[in-house]
Amino acid sequence: MSSPSKNIESVLVESRVFPPDARASTGARIAGMAAYEALCKEAEQDPDGFWTRQARDNMVWTKPFTRTLDESNAPFYKWFDDGELNASANCLDKHIGTPVEHKTAIIFEADDGAVTEITYKDLLARVAQFANALKAQGIQKGDRVIVYMPMTIEGVIAMQACARIGATHSVVFGGFSAKALQERIIDAGAVAVITSNFQMRGGKELPLKAIVDDGIALGGCESIKTVFVHERTLSDWKRVEGRDITFAEALEGQGIDCPPEPVGAEHPLFILYTSGSTGKPKGVQHSTGGYLLWAKLTMDWTFDLRPEDVFWCTADIGWITGHTYVAYGPLAAGATQVVFEGIPTFPNAGRFWQMIEKHKVSIFYTAPTAIRSLIKAAESDEKVHPKNWDLSSLRILGSVGEPINPEAWMWYHRNIGHEKCPIVDTFWQTETGGHVITPLPGATPLVPGSCTLPLPGIAAAIVDETGKDLPNGAGGMLVIKRPWPSMIRTIWNDPERFKKSYFPEEMGGTIYLAGDGAVRSADRGYFRITGRIDDVLNVSGHRLGTMEIESALVAKTDLVAEAAVVGRPDDVSGEAVCAFVVLKRGRPTDAEARQIANELRAWVAKEIGPIAKPKDIRFGDNLPKTRSGKIMRRLLRSIAKGEAITQDTSTLENPAILEQLGQAY
Ligand code: WT7
Repeated sequence: MSSPSKNIESVLVESRVFPPDARASTGARIAGMAAYEALCKEAEQDPDGFWTRQARDNMVWTKPFTRTLDESNAPFYKWFDDGELNASANCLDKHIGTPVEHKTAIIFEADDGAVTEITYKDLLARVAQFANALKAQGIQKGDRVIVYMPMTIEGVIAMQACARIGATHSVVFGGFSAKALQERIIDAGAVAVITSNFQMRGGKELPLKAIVDDGIALGGCESIKTVFVHERTLSDWKRVEGRDITFAEALEGQGIDCPPEPVGAEHPLFILYTSGSTGKPKGVQHSTGGYLLWAKLTMDWTFDLRPEDVFWCTADIGWITGHTYVAYGPLAAGATQVVFEGIPTFPNAGRFWQMIEKHKVSIFYTAPTAIRSLIKAAESDEKVHPKNWDLSSLRILGSVGEPINPEAWMWYHRNIGHEKCPIVDTFWQTETGGHVITPLPGATPLVPGSCTLPLPGIAAAIVDETGKDLPNGAGGMLVIKRPWPSMIRTIWNDPERFKKSYFPEEMGGTIYLAGDGAVRSADRGYFRITGRIDDVLNVSGHRLGTMEIESALVAKTDLVAEAAVVGRPDDVSGEAVCAFVVLKRGRPTDAEARQIANELRAWVAKEIGPIAKPKDIRFGDNLPKTRSGKIMRRLLRSIAKGEAITQDTSTLENPAILEQLGQAY
């Protein structure tokens, strides 16, 4: 682990403070700071009583739990573990016989603008029917099922149907490659893949099923018995006889009743792969009870959800945000939500604003990278400026995935929220399951660029390498000192890596290390996240390991001898991937370099996915190393940023390469 201080620039002095607007605080569940503080105090003084009450009030248990938290095998914490429930029943069946039954659950807008709506009652019927189809193909409780689908109602149905029968899903983002898919199938030991023939994005039809075929063909995927294919488009696709089955075929003759399978609270609801600091992605395992409680609770706390709200989280179901705030949280809370298949820039960069107007969205939750790219678009083309649409339905805005810079925050506040909507800058991670540090719309005075304060029950702190608390104003490592219900349970197949990655021995082995640097403001104690302290990059809110990209590059054995990857700041994507490459044939000429750089980008896209493509590639005779052979990564980061080199380069084995690496392709 590197020192956090490198990421902590001068502590930003942000003096603007925005108290909650009366519209947001009047009638809010947590109205005012005193109410927030009272909840925090209750959670701190009597955590058992607090979580017991929350879990009983917010969830339907088929078998009530008698133990709240079991710490006997820390850090493998267990929550509500002798209780039984079903996640799908808590999202769907629970609403039957209430006013939510006939309410719209999902407003689906396709890439081409076509809209389909489905009520809770009908969604339940379709989930139950698909759950029966899964069972008919032999899928059982405890089996792992890969979901590789676009943003569609069927994508949500696939996840919910797995949950209904107690199968553990592992959703793989539709932008990931055949190789990434193969690795996940093997690691999870999956028995089936649920996919679509194609996906529609920005007017283009992109293959999914063909990539599944390629992934399985790479070998080692003998565990896969069935591939379910949703025919999203009319285009032909190649069928593998005896293995592939269309949704229509699988659903034929299946009834719309399927009793939800009760599972233990600790039963793995899903595994979601995310990047860490080694080349191998980690299968983050989440529970059923604690996870779902948090999904429901944060809908109520962070978004202060009301019955008439129209909620829209723009994240893909392939990421944790799309799990907690598309597939589970909004349904558990009985919300009407928008699910969008397309991209924010098609047919033009006014798409989000147009959709907010059209569907009267009241809670809008998106990523800073999207905001920054839409600011750019609006500034260069009046026609896509948000002022062209009626955004008066908006009540609350949210931000997620990366730090939001104060300029983007102010633009969002003025141009989208019209200075009336609180912005909840929600800090969390795949591992935390849901929000952990975030403002509350009816309580917290906002400071641009700060995720403000931890939710009740979240013992967030900033510490040094030994776990010692640091005073406000001092940058350090973000930790969470007490377990919380939706925390990661383990890394699938790798409990040792779980302990090593998140619960460092030097800190006592029971404190959760987030992997981010952070600093608290001197006046309010507000948290500000300063970025990852490990070898993880955040590109457009997507998490990528530098080692993963390095491994992909050196896997191109005909060309690449050695590679190092670092991040550099980028105006739109937050961070950009920069690769330093040594070729086997020696340093290329200028013309060759351009062509090889493109070849390497295409290669990385194929190995991992297009999101991992290096933006800059630099070639040298070798990489800057110390005499003991260590790659000087800090120096590479300076070169990538185009900064003047201030580091001591006297130990460099070959000083001439500094000039070679000056040119990016
Ligand atoms: C990393 C987690 C949170 C779900 C989507 C990403 C960064 C996330 C914020 C925020 C500053 C943030 C952190 C974190 N991050 N939200 N509001 N402010 N940084 O989940 O892919 O697991 O990535 O995203 O660096 O560690 P993820």
